[in-house]
Amino acid sequence: MSAAHGIRTLGVLGAGQMGTGIAFVAALRAKVPVLLHDRSQDQITKGLALMDKLLDKDVNKGKIQSIDAKEARERIRIISSSEGVKALRDVDMAIEAVSENLSLKEKIFASLTAELNPGAILASNTSSISITKIATSTIPQGSTAASEEGKQSAGRVVGLHFFNPVPVMKLVELISALQTTPETLERARAFAIACGKEVTVSKDVPGFVSNALLMPFINEAIMCLEKGTATRDDIDTTLRLGMNHPMGPLQLADFIGLDTCLAIQQTLYTGTGDSKYRPSILLERMVDAGWYGKKSGKGFYDY
Ligand code: CAA
Repeated sequence: MSAAHGIRTLGVLGAGQMGTGIAFVAALRAKVPVLLHDRSQDQITKGLALMDKLLDKDVNKGKIQSIDAKEARERIRIISSSEGVKALRDVDMAIEAVSENLSLKEKIFASLTAELNPGAILASNTSSISITKIATSTIPQGSTAASEEGKQSAGRVVGLHFFNPVPVMKLVELISALQTTPETLERARAFAIACGKEVTVSKDVPGFVSNALLMPFINEAIMCLEKGTATRDDIDTTLRLGMNHPMGPLQLADFIGLDTCLAIQQTLYTGTGDSKYRPSILLERMVDAGWYGKKSGKGFYDY
């Protein structure tokens, strides 16, 4: 156990691309046992298959020893939906990585508050939702925000924003809610560093730093396509070859998930009330159509 983060066991809620990636770096890099929970068995099966593939690739490339891969894999325990959040009761930190839906997150944080020990850190991997609002949702009924119990509960909530693909991207954006205590922030920072990441800190504003900059850029690229300014390929090629981006904004949107992009853009729009953040109609329609990008087989590109 590292004295700095004090996390002996980690809980991860959500075995999608982000949750799986977080479980992966925690088990392999921070060498922390992980309890990975998801309601969907299908999601868990896909996540584990991806982890096995990544571990095999790293072993074959000589980046890690096969014993490291084996140990990392053994550190991950799956928590089924029937076991539920109760099974995470002894973790020292839980990271929520479910879809960008405030009421779903509030429900999860309320059950984490009820089940976990009061010293556990409660982190959200949200890309845009207010960490302060999530922290408030952990205040037990009958307590107030100003009470000792209310301050203690909300004070252990923090934003821990990983980037996709988590095993590759070097950044974690740390977000402090109004209520987050300095101790929570420092332990979360130490944990991200133990996962092999560099850390930046942002205030709790819509989109934080990363998505306040990235998502309007992606939204503008979609508006370019919508207006017929250029073709899909020309928009992406302009950014790839003209600005050295690893992938163009439309391909990146597919890669993030168009439903996620829309949810973030809507948070920027409603959270600031500024019309410059209006989501592209084309983006809204593609989400209406179920064209979520890479994960659904169709987005701006076919997969
Ligand atoms: N999971 C794990 N590893 C992956 C991966 C995945 N999904 N995709 C690629 N990789 C690994 C590859 O295995 C390879 O590793 P090795 O060097 O060990 O072989 C490495 O990444 C490079 O992959 P490739 O050579 O196949 O492809 P590439 O050079 O095009 O790199 C990329 C792929 C790293 C994804 C690159 O295209 C890139 O950097 N894209 C932009 C990613 C980005 O902007 N991410 C942030 C999205 S925003 C976000 O996540 C937050 C939010 O709130 C929305």
